[in-house]
Amino acid sequence: MCGIVAYVGPKQAYPILINGLKRLEYRGYDSAGIALLNGSLNVYKSKGRVSDLEDLIHDLNLSGTIGIAHTRWATHGEPNTVNAHPHYSQSKQIALIHNGIIENYALLRQELEARGYVFESSTDTEVLTNLIEDIKLNEEVDLFEAVRIALNQVIGAYAIVVISKDDPNTLIAARKGSPLVIGIGKDDYYVASDATPIIEYTKNVVYLDDEEVALIRRNNDLKIKTIRNHEKTPYVQKLEMNLTALEKGGFEHFMLKEIYEQPNSIKDSMRGRVHSELGTVSLGGIIDYEQKLLTANRIIIVACGTSWHAGLVGEYLFEDLARIPVEVEYASEFRYRNPVIYEQDVVIAISQSGETADTLAAIELAKSKGATILGICNVVGSSIARATHAGSYTHAGPEIGVASTKAFTAQVTLLTIMALRLAQLKGTISKSRFMQILLELESIPDKVAETLKTSHVVTKIAEQFKDVRNFLYLGRGYNFPVALEGALKLKEISYIHAEGYPAAEMKHGPIALIDADMPVVVIATNRGTYDKVVSNIQEVKARKGRVIAIVTQGDTIVKEMADYVIEIPETEEMLVPLLATIPLQKLSYHIAVMRGCNVDQPRNLAKSVTVE
Ligand code: F6R
Repeated sequence: MCGIVAYVGPKQAYPILINGLKRLEYRGYDSAGIALLNGSLNVYKSKGRVSDLEDLIHDLNLSGTIGIAHTRWATHGEPNTVNAHPHYSQSKQIALIHNGIIENYALLRQELEARGYVFESSTDTEVLTNLIEDIKLNEEVDLFEAVRIALNQVIGAYAIVVISKDDPNTLIAARKGSPLVIGIGKDDYYVASDATPIIEYTKNVVYLDDEEVALIRRNNDLKIKTIRNHEKTPYVQKLEMNLTALEKGGFEHFMLKEIYEQPNSIKDSMRGRVHSELGTVSLGGIIDYEQKLLTANRIIIVACGTSWHAGLVGEYLFEDLARIPVEVEYASEFRYRNPVIYEQDVVIAISQSGETADTLAAIELAKSKGATILGICNVVGSSIARATHAGSYTHAGPEIGVASTKAFTAQVTLLTIMALRLAQLKGTISKSRFMQILLELESIPDKVAETLKTSHVVTKIAEQFKDVRNFLYLGRGYNFPVALEGALKLKEISYIHAEGYPAAEMKHGPIALIDADMPVVVIATNRGTYDKVVSNIQEVKARKGRVIAIVTQGDTIVKEMADYVIEIPETEEMLVPLLATIPLQKLSYHIAVMRGCNVDQPRNLAKSVTVE
């Protein structure tokens, strides 16, 4: 959840660190800090955003060619300057930044207090800093060894970088459960939570594995050990990302840019996978597991948040097309409820970041029961991508806005391809029907581009409803997950309470909420259940609710009844989520902007949820 950057080399560290923090701010933004080592070890911290830290310290002498920096999403201790990272050790000889949670910190703290340590903050991180100092002093070992020994006593998750005043050429980095990547420049090293702060300096990176500790020394080769003291050979990979993908490119917010990128990101998700000329689809990453999928008892999809909504669309697709039973589970529930898992089950984990702690834990649980685990991730080399037996990347490009947009449509695209492939292999679909869906899927990027042109209607609706306190979203079938996703987008960035419901469930409770103040968004594009959705709209109108309907171009019936309509191009029912989600993303975006909310970094949220 927090962002980590560190540098050692011949350049001035401060500009690299502060720019790196800005790139990582999506991971957490309640406080930030920097430690620079230049004769003395100086720590600068501030509550609030990276720009607050910058304002506070830019007049100071910030020279130094080695340093560490952090942007925080609070877990232990309220977000204030004292709890911000880096944390000094008691002697102020060592400073440390940390992403993750040290679960046994209370016990470790008690032991250190008994040995005379006094703590300034309420964080688990300061405990680790002092533990390392204590080991370094008492066992007379160097910093690398002290960190390694200390981590053997830690229960929980961490990505850390440590520097020490008495060794101005060295950074120590380690990870378990939280991501960390080391960039290898010509004569320098970069460390970060993900590759975004590194990409402008080098494309050569090493992803640390769990329980690995790295010794990063100026003008020396990188050395990696496990915390159990086994030497590892660093595996250097080439980054494929480019810098422009990390910038706003003229858009006011990353979220808006990412919404508008969807025609291309969906195309990128399909690239090399949809072959209409050959009448087939393929997913190279899971080709060796196709047989396993075909003979699976069932597919279990595990995910959180928006990725879970994509999973629900996946359930409809797999059952509809390939006739394979599917269960979609919140990873956080699945991991703790002693689920029944068979070796013949295939678990598909969906995650944009590839770092979500609950999803990772669900994977480990299913793996321990012998199930096959496949991943659908956006971030290449992420923990989930590496924890699964095989998988496919969504290729949506970096998603910086905290509210997920293009990752969702890319996930749904991939699930569609996977379901089509299984249907073809299983023979549960005729050739002509397969081709019909395939050709329609290929036309989706253009239809998304057309859907994006509905701005004038959407801004009008946003203007009308920006001050309401509640919203209801209704959809049936494939549009039910769309309703959930629309509601989630609205609440997370505009702080308006919103609920998504299967349209027919409304009469079992939520209908009591409907009055003249309640806007109800209805996704009314269904063919099979169109009449039923029309009846649901009538039920809302009869209670004076105000209806915003998403309809297919040319619709006349719903248009007559609804207060506002947004038209989307006609498509296959199973592909509607790829179009209907777009205006809902835009509606939330415009409402949030009109309400003056911080769209890219909504309060209390973070982009990658690496804690429980
Ligand atoms: C919503 C959102 C979150 C994430 C969830 C899972 O806009 O971004 O609900 O979808 O935290 O994250 P990933 O997909 O990274 O596992």
